[in-house]
Amino acid sequence: MAILDKHAILEKNITLLAIFAFLVVSIGGIVQIAPLFWLENTIEDVEGMRPYSPLELTGRDVYVREGCYVCHSQMVRAMRDEVERYGHYSLAAESKYDHPFQWGSKRTGPDLARVGGRYSDDWHVDHLRDPQSVVPESVMPKYGFLENRILDATYIEDRLRTDAFVGVPYTDEMIDNARADFRAQADPDADHDGLLSRYPKAQTRNFDGQPGISETDALIAYLQMLGTLVDFSTFTPDPSR
Ligand code: HEC
Repeated sequence: MAILDKHAILEKNITLLAIFAFLVVSIGGIVQIAPLFWLENTIEDVEGMRPYSPLELTGRDVYVREGCYVCHSQMVRAMRDEVERYGHYSLAAESKYDHPFQWGSKRTGPDLARVGGRYSDDWHVDHLRDPQSVVPESVMPKYGFLENRILDATYIEDRLRTDAFVGVPYTDEMIDNARADFRAQADPDADHDGLLSRYPKAQTRNFDGQPGISETDALIAYLQMLGTLVDFSTFTPDPSR
């Protein structure tokens, strides 16, 4: 009872109450928030994650520039209906190399976090050209003009360097080979050994089926890799995190 009597002093004195309330909230805040400053603690290392290949990164830039995120999210929530529709819920590690992240909160169209491999390249070409030709009720705009925008990867080394600057582990070797890797990924006849050692699971082919590397090539390379890096048949969450 004695301690409760003393508590009455706090309850009757607004200044004391404010000071003690502040103390309690501060301690709680530090305990909860401080560990997040050590980011390595919050993001579980997951096998398979790697930085984007130069071609995928370029496609991602097209995606961001065109505002695809206005209608598409890239985060499968840990809820049953989402997991049944899209696949395994998204892991923090899956967007750890994203600058900026594309989680999104608006879904006029479906979530795209795991769209890689769901459709053929031809489907994507048709769908980007004229979404209504494959999904008649679609309200997605047409992006056929991307096919005519041929890329020469002029600034690709600088592009990788910029991401390296904000923490993406691009090595000097990756940056030095960026231009060659960019071309090799879209060329089915190129030597892909170097590309694949730097970017395991990178898919190599002529994505839009036309000569020249277009923004459509880059965008499809990006879409086809989304959600394919982590092997969820062998993934087990680390319970200590
Ligand atoms: C105005 C909203 C809107 C914008 C902007 C938009 N989309 Fe869509 N998207 C949709 C809708 C609605 C669907 C579902 C119908 C369909 O498949 O066309 C869709 C479907 C898709 C699908 C098929 C997904 C699946 O799982 O079936 C892909 C891939 C896609 N969009 C990519 C893109 C890309 C890439 C961009 C940017 C270049 C983009 N979208 C911009 C509305 C949009």
